[in-house]
Amino acid sequence: TGGVVTLDPGYKNTGACESAITFLDGEKGVLRYRGYSIEELAEKAHFLEVCYLLIFGELPTTPQLNKFHADIKAQSHVDEDVKKILDGFPKSAHPMGVLSSLTSALVAFNPSSVNVDSEEDMYKAIVKILGKFPVLTAWTYRKRMGLPLDYGGDSLGYVDNFIKMMFKKPSADYATNDIILEALDKLLILHADHEQNCSTSTVRIVGSSHAGLFISISAGIAALWGPLHGGANQAVIEMLEAIKEDGGDTKKFMAKAKDKNDPFRLMGFGHRVYKNFDPRAKIIKKAADAVLDDLGIDDEILDIAKALEKEALEDPYFVERKLYPNVDFYSGIIYRALGIPVEMFTPMFALGRLPGWIAQWREMRLNKEPIGRPRQIYVGKTHREFVPVEKR
Ligand code: SDX
Repeated sequence: TGGVVTLDPGYKNTGACESAITFLDGEKGVLRYRGYSIEELAEKAHFLEVCYLLIFGELPTTPQLNKFHADIKAQSHVDEDVKKILDGFPKSAHPMGVLSSLTSALVAFNPSSVNVDSEEDMYKAIVKILGKFPVLTAWTYRKRMGLPLDYGGDSLGYVDNFIKMMFKKPSADYATNDIILEALDKLLILHADHEQNCSTSTVRIVGSSHAGLFISISAGIAALWGPLHGGANQAVIEMLEAIKEDGGDTKKFMAKAKDKNDPFRLMGFGHRVYKNFDPRAKIIKKAADAVLDDLGIDDEILDIAKALEKEALEDPYFVERKLYPNVDFYSGIIYRALGIPVEMFTPMFALGRLPGWIAQWREMRLNKEPIGRPRQIYVGKTHREFVPVEKR
């Protein structure tokens, strides 16, 4: 087959690329975007600033940020015919499947964004997807709820505009709820990039064939949907609800999670890279307490989550496997408190991860990375002759 091939299932020990975007130290639980710590960014930055930082490598000046936002707003309209595609889905369709479909449909309505080679054309495609994706996400939710599909308002910020598109009731005026705005801004920052995770690797490998940005993002959405990846934030809440329905006996579910014959896993726990606390989980756990306090919500499943975490951190099975809460363990509790339905949790993850996918796709293209094409160890049949059907 030419050359030695080292088998590495799940690419656990394979560096797929050189990247200057995000730094992870799994042992120490360190996460930095372009050298800035996630703790500082979550505390002091806004999501659109972090989008700019991830994609272009520097925190923007005020004029740069204003131009970036204006360029995005100018591209935020979605062709009215896209609503006909949305109409074709049953209300019960999972939003991740709808979003992946609508994102790839954008290609048909934006043919100039298909083959982009110059930085200038990449920028045009980037502001288009940053402008249209929040609209597609909000419309997917509104369609499911039987609410009108429209836009936010010109004066609003990027995240505020998304919240308005999602939640504005037809009759009532929109008033920004600062608690919801601040919580979502922080959550989107915490989800914005995470080096070569499954969905980002998908975006990079699809883009490495020089497929366009939109279709590469659509592939990333598909990969993120899996319950082992971004889909875990929905699975965590469903698990906590099941434990609550079952009487709140966390010990019973801990036993199931350790039983090799039981497919049940403690969703929101464990991580390929973090063998320590996921720094995002620490921040989100604190934010969950604050948001529920601020909104005056007493959610029993937060107590169940904390009980599970405490038990797992003291359980030898989890300790020896270095299984800690990950980004998905507490995020759903905040989404729930903000009135976002569980089927929309992973789309929220996608909205946060969009700038990371874009930044990684752009880096891969500017670095002129070769097309991704791993090898294999062949373990199938050796050569054999064809047997006519009458002799089989
Ligand atoms: C994300 O890669 C990223 O950066 C992803 C992400 C991002 O920002 O992009 O951080 C987002 O996807 C977070 C992860 C969300 N997924 C979940 O919460 C699902 C539950 N977690 C697991 O399925 C698992 O921990 C993974 C998928 C996250 C990691 O899987 P690995 O690295 O392939 O590890 P593994 O499945 O081989 O597990 C190692 C051992 C096994 O036991 P042994 O065979 O050694 O006896 O730990 C056990 C596993 O059975 N284990 C768990 C467990 N996770 C691992 N046992 C019970 N519950 C769990 N959650």
